[in-house]
Amino acid sequence: MYHDIYISEKSVKIIGISATEQIMTERKPLMNEAIIRIENVSKTFTTTDNTVEALKNINLEIGRGEIFGIIGMSGAGKSTLVRTLNFLEKPTEGTVIIEDKDLSKLSEKEIRKVRTEIAMIFQSFNLLAQRTVLDNICFPLEIIGTPKAKARERARELLQIVGLEAKENSYPSQLSGGQKQRVAIARALANNPKILLCDEATSALDPTTTKAILKLLKEINEKYGITIVIITHEMTVVQEICSHVAIIDEGVLAEHGTVEEVFSHPKSKAAKKLVFMVNHSTPRMDGRRCIRITFSENSSFEPVIANMVLECNAPVNILLADTQDIGGIAHGQMILQLPEDTATQEKMIEYLKRCNLEVEDEDWPCD
Ligand SMILES: Nc1ncnc2c1ncn2[C@@H]1O[C@H](COP(=O)(O)OP(=O)(O)O)[C@@H](O)[C@H]1O
Ligand SMILES: [Mg+2]
Repeated sequence: MYHDIYISEKSVKIIGISATEQIMTERKPLMNEAIIRIENVSKTFTTTDNTVEALKNINLEIGRGEIFGIIGMSGAGKSTLVRTLNFLEKPTEGTVIIEDKDLSKLSEKEIRKVRTEIAMIFQSFNLLAQRTVLDNICFPLEIIGTPKAKARERARELLQIVGLEAKENSYPSQLSGGQKQRVAIARALANNPKILLCDEATSALDPTTTKAILKLLKEINEKYGITIVIITHEMTVVQEICSHVAIIDEGVLAEHGTVEEVFSHPKSKAAKKLVFMVNHSTPRMDGRRCIRITFSENSSFEPVIANMVLECNAPVNILLADTQDIGGIAHGQMILQLPEDTATQEKMIEYLKRCNLEVEDEDWPCD
């Protein structure tokens, strides 16, 4: 059974960590306890011909047991940020604190020890082509000196967790992308990490396989209390499994909060772009006033907007309309650009409020 791997004498010997540390109940998340603290982290890359400020003064806390999404456009600094979490990339300024260990104050040897508690998976899987599935999973166990028979036993348990028992003798080239990522996940779990970092782990997979892998990650998070950090450029991934999200834009932390907060009330331009995937080709209208209307029940905007347009006898520009399922609740938002005439604007807002919709002025990037 999966649970046994954390509490049995056998596995305790395999991984050489005290039994109490392995009992899963001890890993139950304590409310608001940060497992990762990123403090004033900046990272500048200097090459012969230029300097890139990849991260600019990032401050962020990730709670124990959370599935935390870090999202941003390509080149925003996400991979750099995730590599600073285990000091594979040393910040130019600032530090990272894992549990109570300030990584900037540790020796190389001590950092290596912390790294064994932080596993990583990638878009490219990084499996060893010459090794079978089973031997790929045994690899990190071999490195820490686990006897071969025990490593294989543990690897088989891990294969069960990821649902790939039948493939232990296959080579990576014989597997689909989803199966390769399952092997990578099994390998990442071999040393019982407390944190699993996933850098674009589903970006090479089709939508159905992505869903299956995300489901597996969620199961691992729930069963074993492992904190998961998901780096992605896809909002749907965050929406699917994350509880919290941070948005990185050109090296800056643009916004962070619960997924529900950020999805329903994105504040920064970067968040708005990601949440709604802004379409800049909306038709031109002279009015500059934009409003956002929000609902969080199973109602529909369309008849309301149509009736408002009829009643006020003036057109509006629907800049964006979006309905999303967040934690089982339908959230809808619409951004409207109103006509130039202020009296008509007020009449429209009043109409929408009468329909019990939440209305607020919106500083929408119309440029
Ligand atoms: N080792 C490096 N040397 C120089 N520049 C780098 C290095 N790693 C990343 N960068 C630069 O830092 C910026 C952020 O990169 P990255 O963290 O990979 O972004 P993301 O993962 O969000 O796509 C980019 O401009 C990239 O070119
Ligand atoms: Mg990246």
